[in-house]
Amino acid sequence: MTSAETPVLILLGPPGAGKGTQARMLEEEQGLVQLSTGDMLRAAVAQGTPAGLAAKAVMEAGALVSDEIVLAILQERMAQPDCARGIILDGFPRTDGQAAALEQLLADQGLRITAAVSLEVDDEAMVGRVSGRYSCAKCGEGYHDSFRQPAHAGTCDKCGASEMKRRADDNATTVRERLKAYHAQTAPLIAFYEAKGVLQRIDAMAAIDEVRSALGRVIGRVAV
Ligand code: AP5
Repeated sequence: MTSAETPVLILLGPPGAGKGTQARMLEEEQGLVQLSTGDMLRAAVAQGTPAGLAAKAVMEAGALVSDEIVLAILQERMAQPDCARGIILDGFPRTDGQAAALEQLLADQGLRITAAVSLEVDDEAMVGRVSGRYSCAKCGEGYHDSFRQPAHAGTCDKCGASEMKRRADDNATTVRERLKAYHAQTAPLIAFYEAKGVLQRIDAMAAIDEVRSALGRVIGRVAV
Protein backbone atom coordinates (compact mmCIF):
# COMPACT_ATOMS: atom_id res chain seq x y z
CA MET A 1 0.00 0.00 0.00
CA THR A 2 1.39 3.40 -0.83
CA SER A 3 -0.85 6.45 -0.32
CA ALA A 4 -1.13 8.23 3.04
CA GLU A 5 -4.85 8.70 2.32
CA THR A 6 -5.54 5.03 1.63
CA PRO A 7 -8.70 4.18 3.62
CA VAL A 8 -8.16 1.78 6.49
CA LEU A 9 -11.41 0.70 8.18
CA ILE A 10 -11.63 -1.65 11.15
CA LEU A 11 -14.89 -3.51 11.86
CA LEU A 12 -15.15 -4.56 15.52
CA GLY A 13 -17.90 -6.76 16.91
CA PRO A 14 -18.64 -10.20 18.36
CA PRO A 15 -19.40 -13.28 16.25
CA GLY A 16 -22.55 -12.63 14.25
CA ALA A 17 -22.40 -8.83 14.56
CA GLY A 18 -22.33 -8.55 10.76
CA LYS A 19 -18.67 -7.77 10.13
CA GLY A 20 -18.40 -10.09 7.14
CA THR A 21 -21.82 -9.15 5.72
CA GLN A 22 -21.05 -5.43 5.85
CA ALA A 23 -17.43 -5.79 4.70
CA ARG A 24 -18.53 -7.66 1.58
CA MET A 25 -21.06 -4.94 0.76
CA LEU A 26 -18.45 -2.22 1.31
CA GLU A 27 -16.08 -4.06 -0.96
CA GLU A 28 -18.67 -4.09 -3.73
CA GLU A 29 -19.95 -0.56 -3.22
CA GLN A 30 -16.80 1.35 -2.27
CA GLY A 31 -14.13 -0.72 -4.02
CA LEU A 32 -12.26 -1.39 -0.78
CA VAL A 33 -10.64 -4.77 -0.14
CA GLN A 34 -12.13 -7.00 2.59
CA LEU A 35 -9.41 -8.56 4.73
CA SER A 36 -11.03 -11.24 6.90
CA THR A 37 -8.52 -13.06 9.09
CA GLY A 38 -11.19 -15.71 9.72
CA ASP A 39 -11.49 -16.38 5.96
CA MET A 40 -7.69 -16.43 5.61
CA LEU A 41 -7.37 -18.92 8.47
CA ARG A 42 -10.17 -21.13 7.07
CA ALA A 43 -8.37 -21.14 3.70
CA ALA A 44 -5.13 -22.14 5.46
CA VAL A 45 -6.98 -24.96 7.26
CA ALA A 46 -8.51 -26.17 3.97
CA GLN A 47 -5.10 -26.10 2.26
CA GLY A 48 -3.43 -27.92 5.18
CA THR A 49 -0.62 -25.35 5.48
CA PRO A 50 1.48 -25.34 8.71
CA ALA A 51 -0.49 -22.29 9.90
CA GLY A 52 -3.77 -24.02 9.08
CA LEU A 53 -2.76 -27.22 10.90
CA ALA A 54 -1.89 -25.18 13.99
CA ALA A 55 -5.11 -23.11 13.80
CA LYS A 56 -7.69 -25.84 13.14
CA ALA A 57 -8.32 -27.17 16.66
CA VAL A 58 -8.13 -23.68 18.18
CA MET A 59 -10.81 -22.40 15.82
CA GLU A 60 -13.04 -25.42 16.38
CA ALA A 61 -12.86 -24.76 20.13
CA GLY A 62 -13.88 -21.12 19.62
CA ALA A 63 -10.61 -19.70 20.98
CA LEU A 64 -8.27 -17.20 19.34
CA VAL A 65 -5.42 -18.33 17.11
CA SER A 66 -1.97 -17.05 18.18
CA ASP A 67 -1.01 -13.49 17.30
CA GLU A 68 2.10 -14.83 15.57
CA ILE A 69 0.12 -16.92 13.06
CA VAL A 70 -2.55 -14.28 12.44
CA LEU A 71 -0.03 -11.47 11.96
CA ALA A 72 2.04 -13.48 9.48
CA ILE A 73 -1.04 -14.31 7.42
CA LEU A 74 -2.38 -10.74 7.47
CA GLN A 75 0.95 -9.10 6.72
CA GLU A 76 1.41 -11.28 3.64
CA ARG A 77 -2.07 -10.38 2.37
CA MET A 78 -1.60 -6.65 3.04
CA ALA A 79 1.52 -6.66 0.88
CA GLN A 80 -0.52 -7.49 -2.22
CA PRO A 81 -1.07 -4.63 -4.67
CA ASP A 82 -4.90 -4.58 -4.58
CA CYS A 83 -4.74 -3.32 -0.96
CA ALA A 84 -3.66 0.06 -2.35
CA ARG A 85 -7.40 0.66 -3.01
CA GLY A 86 -8.02 0.72 0.73
CA ILE A 87 -8.85 -2.03 3.20
CA ILE A 88 -11.59 -3.16 5.55
CA LEU A 89 -10.21 -5.20 8.42
CA ASP A 90 -12.87 -7.79 9.31
CA GLY A 91 -12.05 -9.70 12.50
CA PHE A 92 -8.67 -8.04 13.04
CA PRO A 93 -7.27 -6.81 15.40
CA ARG A 94 -8.62 -9.03 18.19
CA THR A 95 -6.00 -8.63 20.93
CA ASP A 96 -3.85 -5.84 22.38
CA GLY A 97 -0.86 -7.41 20.67
CA GLN A 98 -2.57 -7.39 17.27
CA ALA A 99 -3.66 -3.77 17.71
CA ALA A 100 -0.09 -2.72 18.57
CA ALA A 101 1.29 -4.68 15.61
CA LEU A 102 -1.25 -3.04 13.29
CA GLU A 103 -0.16 0.43 14.46
CA GLN A 104 3.42 -0.44 13.55
CA LEU A 105 2.49 -2.06 10.26
CA LEU A 106 0.49 1.00 9.17
CA ALA A 107 3.11 3.49 10.42
CA ASP A 108 5.79 1.68 8.42
CA GLN A 109 3.69 2.28 5.29
CA GLY A 110 2.75 5.88 6.12
CA LEU A 111 -0.88 4.89 6.71
CA ARG A 112 -3.34 5.61 9.49
CA ILE A 113 -6.65 4.21 10.69
CA THR A 114 -9.55 6.04 9.05
CA ALA A 115 -12.19 4.66 11.43
CA ALA A 116 -12.74 1.75 13.81
CA VAL A 117 -16.44 0.90 13.74
CA SER A 118 -17.95 -0.99 16.68
CA LEU A 119 -21.01 -3.00 15.56
CA GLU A 120 -23.05 -3.08 18.77
CA VAL A 121 -25.33 -6.07 19.36
CA ASP A 122 -26.93 -8.25 22.07
CA ASP A 123 -24.97 -11.45 22.72
CA GLU A 124 -27.99 -13.73 22.98
CA ALA A 125 -29.24 -12.79 19.51
CA MET A 126 -25.82 -13.64 18.10
CA VAL A 127 -26.18 -17.34 18.89
CA GLY A 128 -29.24 -17.50 16.60
CA ARG A 129 -27.64 -15.36 13.91
CA VAL A 130 -24.50 -17.47 13.71
CA SER A 131 -26.20 -20.86 13.99
CA GLY A 132 -28.52 -19.98 11.06
CA ARG A 133 -25.77 -18.77 8.79
CA TYR A 134 -24.60 -20.41 5.55
CA SER A 135 -22.77 -19.26 2.46
CA CYS A 136 -22.25 -20.02 -1.20
CA ALA A 137 -19.52 -22.66 -1.57
CA LYS A 138 -18.29 -20.99 -4.77
CA CYS A 139 -18.23 -17.22 -4.17
CA GLY A 140 -18.72 -16.99 -0.38
CA GLU A 141 -21.85 -14.83 -0.48
CA GLY A 142 -23.48 -15.02 2.95
CA TYR A 143 -27.07 -16.08 3.73
CA HIS A 144 -29.17 -16.89 6.78
CA ASP A 145 -32.03 -19.34 7.42
CA SER A 146 -34.27 -16.51 8.71
CA PHE A 147 -32.77 -13.12 7.87
CA ARG A 148 -31.29 -13.38 4.40
CA GLN A 149 -32.32 -16.12 2.01
CA PRO A 150 -31.43 -16.34 -1.68
CA ALA A 151 -34.22 -15.35 -4.09
CA HIS A 152 -34.39 -18.99 -5.27
CA ALA A 153 -33.79 -21.51 -2.46
CA GLY A 154 -30.43 -23.23 -2.79
CA THR A 155 -29.14 -20.97 -5.60
CA CYS A 156 -26.68 -18.15 -4.95
CA ASP A 157 -28.05 -14.73 -5.95
CA LYS A 158 -24.58 -13.51 -6.79
CA CYS A 159 -22.96 -16.28 -8.85
CA GLY A 160 -25.76 -18.79 -9.50
CA ALA A 161 -23.94 -21.73 -7.87
CA SER A 162 -26.10 -24.33 -6.17
CA GLU A 163 -23.80 -25.61 -3.42
CA MET A 164 -24.08 -23.97 0.00
CA LYS A 165 -21.86 -24.63 3.05
CA ARG A 166 -21.89 -24.07 6.83
CA ARG A 167 -18.87 -23.37 9.05
CA ALA A 168 -17.55 -26.03 11.47
CA ASP A 169 -17.52 -23.50 14.36
CA ASP A 170 -21.11 -22.29 13.83
CA ASN A 171 -22.82 -24.31 16.56
CA ALA A 172 -24.33 -22.87 19.74
CA THR A 173 -21.63 -24.25 22.10
CA THR A 174 -18.72 -22.90 20.07
CA VAL A 175 -20.46 -19.58 19.47
CA ARG A 176 -20.70 -19.09 23.26
CA GLU A 177 -16.94 -19.75 23.56
CA ARG A 178 -16.29 -17.27 20.75
CA LEU A 179 -18.42 -14.68 22.54
CA LYS A 180 -16.39 -15.22 25.73
CA ALA A 181 -13.14 -14.78 23.80
CA TYR A 182 -14.52 -11.60 22.24
CA HIS A 183 -15.43 -10.02 25.59
CA ALA A 184 -12.18 -11.06 27.28
CA GLN A 185 -9.69 -10.19 24.56
CA THR A 186 -11.26 -8.02 21.84
CA ALA A 187 -13.91 -5.76 23.44
CA PRO A 188 -11.20 -3.79 25.34
CA LEU A 189 -10.01 -2.51 21.95
CA ILE A 190 -13.17 -0.39 21.73
CA ALA A 191 -11.80 1.85 24.50
CA PHE A 192 -8.38 1.81 22.84
CA TYR A 193 -9.78 3.19 19.57
CA GLU A 194 -12.07 5.60 21.40
CA ALA A 195 -9.02 7.09 23.12
CA LYS A 196 -7.36 7.47 19.73
CA GLY A 197 -10.40 9.42 18.47
CA VAL A 198 -11.23 7.05 15.60
CA LEU A 199 -14.09 5.04 17.13
CA GLN A 200 -17.60 5.08 15.63
CA ARG A 201 -20.48 3.07 17.11
CA ILE A 202 -23.35 1.59 15.10
CA ASP A 203 -26.48 -0.19 16.34
CA ALA A 204 -26.03 -3.50 14.53
CA MET A 205 -29.25 -5.04 15.91
CA ALA A 206 -31.01 -3.14 13.11
CA ALA A 207 -31.77 -4.80 9.76
CA ILE A 208 -28.82 -5.46 7.43
CA ASP A 209 -29.70 -2.60 5.06
CA GLU A 210 -30.12 -0.15 7.94
CA VAL A 211 -26.70 -1.09 9.29
CA ARG A 212 -25.30 -0.70 5.81
CA SER A 213 -26.80 2.82 5.53
CA ALA A 214 -25.45 3.77 8.97
CA LEU A 215 -22.02 2.52 7.95
CA GLY A 216 -22.26 4.48 4.71
CA ARG A 217 -22.99 7.65 6.72
CA VAL A 218 -20.01 7.00 9.00
CA ILE A 219 -17.75 6.49 6.02
CA GLY A 220 -19.08 9.65 4.41
CA ARG A 221 -18.31 11.62 7.58
CA VAL A 222 -14.75 10.40 7.76
CA ALA A 223 -14.35 11.09 4.02
CA VAL A 224 -13.21 7.73 2.72
P1 AP5 B 1 -14.22 -15.06 12.12
O1 AP5 B 1 -14.37 -15.76 10.85
O2 AP5 B 1 -13.66 -13.68 12.13
O3 AP5 B 1 -15.59 -15.13 12.90
P2 AP5 B 1 -16.27 -14.17 14.00
O4 AP5 B 1 -15.55 -12.97 14.41
O5 AP5 B 1 -16.63 -15.11 15.09
O6 AP5 B 1 -17.37 -13.53 13.26
P3 AP5 B 1 -18.42 -14.19 12.34
O7 AP5 B 1 -17.85 -14.42 10.97
O8 AP5 B 1 -19.03 -15.36 13.02
O9 AP5 B 1 -19.52 -13.07 12.34
P4 AP5 B 1 -19.67 -11.73 11.51
O10 AP5 B 1 -19.59 -10.59 12.46
O11 AP5 B 1 -18.76 -11.70 10.32
O12 AP5 B 1 -21.18 -11.90 11.10
P5 AP5 B 1 -21.81 -12.20 9.67
O13 AP5 B 1 -21.71 -10.99 8.81
O14 AP5 B 1 -21.30 -13.49 9.09
O15 AP5 B 1 -13.29 -15.91 13.11
C1 AP5 B 1 -13.48 -17.30 13.25
C2 AP5 B 1 -12.35 -17.85 14.11
O16 AP5 B 1 -11.08 -17.63 13.46
C3 AP5 B 1 -12.20 -17.21 15.49
O17 AP5 B 1 -13.06 -17.79 16.44
C4 AP5 B 1 -10.71 -17.47 15.78
O18 AP5 B 1 -10.50 -18.79 16.18
C5 AP5 B 1 -10.08 -17.27 14.41
N1 AP5 B 1 -9.65 -15.89 14.15
C6 AP5 B 1 -10.12 -15.05 13.17
N2 AP5 B 1 -9.49 -13.87 13.23
C7 AP5 B 1 -8.63 -13.95 14.27
C8 AP5 B 1 -7.72 -13.02 14.85
N3 AP5 B 1 -7.58 -11.76 14.36
N4 AP5 B 1 -6.99 -13.42 15.92
C9 AP5 B 1 -7.11 -14.67 16.42
N5 AP5 B 1 -7.96 -15.60 15.93
C10 AP5 B 1 -8.72 -15.23 14.85
O19 AP5 B 1 -23.31 -12.38 10.09
C11 AP5 B 1 -23.75 -13.55 10.78
C12 AP5 B 1 -25.13 -13.96 10.26
O20 AP5 B 1 -26.08 -12.98 10.66
C13 AP5 B 1 -25.21 -14.04 8.73
O21 AP5 B 1 -26.00 -15.12 8.39
C14 AP5 B 1 -25.86 -12.73 8.30
O22 AP5 B 1 -26.63 -12.89 7.15
C15 AP5 B 1 -26.71 -12.40 9.52
N6 AP5 B 1 -26.75 -10.97 9.78
C16 AP5 B 1 -25.74 -10.08 9.66
N7 AP5 B 1 -26.16 -8.84 10.00
C17 AP5 B 1 -27.47 -8.97 10.36
C18 AP5 B 1 -28.46 -8.05 10.80
N8 AP5 B 1 -28.18 -6.75 10.94
N9 AP5 B 1 -29.69 -8.54 11.07
C19 AP5 B 1 -29.98 -9.86 10.92
N10 AP5 B 1 -29.06 -10.77 10.48
C20 AP5 B 1 -27.83 -10.34 10.21
